[in-house]
Amino acid sequence: MRRGSIAALLGLALIAGGVATAVALVPTWLPEDASQQAGRIAFTFWFVIAICIFIFAIVAAVMVYSVMKFRVRDDDFEDGPPIHGHTGLEITWTIIPFILVTGIAIVSAIVLSRNDAQAQDTLRVNVLAQQFEFTFSYPDAKNVTSPVLMLPKDRSVELYMRSVDVIHSVFVPQFSVKEDIVPGLVTQLHVTPTRLGTFPLECTELCGLGHSLMRSQAVVVSPAAFNTWLKKQEKNAGPSSTGTSTTPTTSTSTTSSTTPISSAQAGLTVFNSNGCSACHTLSAAKATGKVGPNLDNLVAYAKTAKQPLEAFVQQSIVDPGKYVQPGYSDGIMPTNFGQSLTKEQLDHLVAFLAQSARQSGNK
Ligand code: CUA
Repeated sequence: MRRGSIAALLGLALIAGGVATAVALVPTWLPEDASQQAGRIAFTFWFVIAICIFIFAIVAAVMVYSVMKFRVRDDDFEDGPPIHGHTGLEITWTIIPFILVTGIAIVSAIVLSRNDAQAQDTLRVNVLAQQFEFTFSYPDAKNVTSPVLMLPKDRSVELYMRSVDVIHSVFVPQFSVKEDIVPGLVTQLHVTPTRLGTFPLECTELCGLGHSLMRSQAVVVSPAAFNTWLKKQEKNAGPSSTGTSTTPTTSTSTTSSTTPISSAQAGLTVFNSNGCSACHTLSAAKATGKVGPNLDNLVAYAKTAKQPLEAFVQQSIVDPGKYVQPGYSDGIMPTNFGQSLTKEQLDHLVAFLAQSARQSGNK
């Protein structure tokens, strides 16, 4: 190859690379980082972009050079000479992409595993998605609910997300994390906010007519301000911690149930705020779902499973695959549903379901 050709190729590569670099750097493609995860995602992004620009510069230079140098002349009607392979070239263009793609895979794997790594004091937030709103609740703080996602700065946060109807997806661009919320599953999303401020939180899965309106906010405040906020919400929610959900009156039939009413009431709130009614029928909660077993029949189910009622109900929530009522499919009830409840919530829910089931059984 002549020196002139190499210089021409290099010049073309520099021009193509320069233009691509300008396109990458001049517009602001990514929002300003507001989470630890975002910093790592941005690093991966720029790592891949740099590789892309390098490859683009080579390909564009060779292409433009070939078009200029080897194009057909006006009076030339002959075919070009036949060419058969070039082992050295083929090995080169296989090995270089192999190294680059492996590099991308390694960097991505490290970033993904670091992004999911929870700290010891991870804050748990439950997210309930439905057409067309998000509800956030804080199980460690009497399950107070909020229409916006309040978060303390610099603390690892794990979202446990459920949908009562269709597939939604939660995305905060400044956090660079996104996860679908799928009916029948509890999906998880981990984030560590690093910047104070209010950021848009939006649904990014077409979920119906109101999809474009399904927006909320992630509000990152100092840990002290966050605790003050939580305390205030707890106070507003009242000592009975029945939350904000509307509470249908429990069955009016008179029974000699010994379960304390407050626990059952709290259980109803847990039932309502976790979307159980989407799949289950339960007259005490005015629920009419048909996907899973009818919870008015729990007494009979427990008998079939040969277990005491309370133990049976608890097992069915925590380990739904252990006993599956004939006629219903295994694997529909989220297996990690129990993990998203606090011990207290689980006890309330079990008490509530057992009490309601006994009442319907006595009717
Ligand atoms: Cu929910 Cu789109």
